Amino acid sequence: MEIRIVENISLTDIKADVLILPFTEDYKGSVYAGLDDETAGLIKHVLDTKEFTGKHTELTLLHTKTGRVVLVGLGKAEQLTAERLRRVGGKVFISKYLKGHEVISAALSAAIFKELRILDGAQHSAAFYFVEGGVLSSYEFRRYKRPEKDQPQSLKTLTVLDAAQSDNSADSMKWLDTVIPAVSFARDLVNTPSSDMTPTILAETAKSLSGKLVKVNILDAWDAKKEGMWSYLSVSKGSAEPPKFIVIEYYGGPVKMPPVAIIGKSITFDSGGLSLKPADGMEKMKYDMAGGAAALGIIKAASELSLDINLVAVLPATENMPGGNATRPGDVVTAITGKTIEILNTDAEGRLVLADAIGYAIKHYKPAVIIDMATLTGACSIALGNEAIAMMGNNEALMDELKKASKETYERVWQMPLYEEYKDYLKSDIADIKNIGGRTGGLVTAAYFLSEFVTDTPWVHLDIASTAFADKDKPYIRKGATGIGVRLIMNYLLNRHD
Ligand code: BES
Ligand code: MN
Ligand code: ZN
Repeated sequence: MEIRIVENISLTDIKADVLILPFTEDYKGSVYAGLDDETAGLIKHVLDTKEFTGKHTELTLLHTKTGRVVLVGLGKAEQLTAERLRRVGGKVFISKYLKGHEVISAALSAAIFKELRILDGAQHSAAFYFVEGGVLSSYEFRRYKRPEKDQPQSLKTLTVLDAAQSDNSADSMKWLDTVIPAVSFARDLVNTPSSDMTPTILAETAKSLSGKLVKVNILDAWDAKKEGMWSYLSVSKGSAEPPKFIVIEYYGGPVKMPPVAIIGKSITFDSGGLSLKPADGMEKMKYDMAGGAAALGIIKAASELSLDINLVAVLPATENMPGGNATRPGDVVTAITGKTIEILNTDAEGRLVLADAIGYAIKHYKPAVIIDMATLTGACSIALGNEAIAMMGNNEALMDELKKASKETYERVWQMPLYEEYKDYLKSDIADIKNIGGRTGGLVTAAYFLSEFVTDTPWVHLDIASTAFADKDKPYIRKGATGIGVRLIMNYLLNRHD
């Protein structure tokens, strides 16, 4: 969708199939004074009769001679937040008033936000959040649907009128033009079934991001052996699909500047291996590469924005399958750091691939910061439901920066502890560490396992198992892949380089 901001144009002169007019609850002013008499009369009528009162996410459609007008309720002005605006925007763009009926262009008036000084001083303008929610909600995954015969045209352009002249508007437009499409890009990768999103295909997708500032290097099984990444390789042994260890370098900053390492769990299908998962719900394990997809989305957005920092993304891609050569429970492997791991459950494979990915990033890049994103544990949703990313790490300042980004994007993180006592939970009888803790603390012992491969680099682990895929529609995110992590980390990176 193309988004334009136009200034100094009257409401009557705007040519669009739909005009979107937001109202706060019980609004008595007259920001939309420039409307033609017919439209003004209709609006006055629905307001007088209380057919439309401006309640949060309330919608009313008016047909006028000049076109369609959608009145949108914002709710009480004093209750408006960035997130509530995203939700209203989402509701409008997903509504039947904007879908179908040959609605190709829409115009949104931001006059009321300006008049009531809504969200003055926030990172972006009120109109921005409204549009962000709208664009996110418009995402659809149609790759496997036969095109319908009379499929209605979808919205192509959105014109924003009377936007606030905030200093941030250039940044806002860049966000909408690059970060939101990167979220959709990640969502497409995650929604794609595993047979069409193998490690090889994921690697090809990574290569498609190559460019002047982006170098992609794919390590195959042989290369991984030479690196001593036996922990990673142990996960791929039961699969007929070759593993691909994907490394992407982005150079936007000074040559000597240590990069931010983004590590994304990239299990393209997690059957559990020999510790096989139950049949019920196994189909969802195509989304076990959501961390990797988010990492690719971040590289894509960062390079399109030419961010002046360096990044390295590491995606240890493989399937986790129960083949004749699969890793057996009880096997011991050595990771890149030299630590030995007793594999007691082959379904705890995420930490095995991440241990080597983290070790690889430290060995070859000495990163300033490591951020890993992983659909790591079922225990994540037991602890937090589907509302927040579980965050653990070894550096409070780094976690504070992510909390800030989390507040701004509403991709919420919730910090969980990494007590040193958890070390005991992972004591192996025969190796340096085992890959599962006991029955309790599954979320934190998984993170503790990772910490054993990080040593002292500032590091944060984001368990996105409960947020990367929605089983039902959210206010502005349709069910399916959510693309979580892209907006959070992009916000963090943009704040970091300021
Ligand atoms: N990919 C799963 C975690 C997961 C579960 C993600 C549900 C999304 C939804 C991970 O590889 C896994 O299987 N974890 C096990 C670990 C256990 C064996 C210690 C789990 O959480 O059950
Ligand atoms: Mn698993
Ligand atoms: Zn997994």
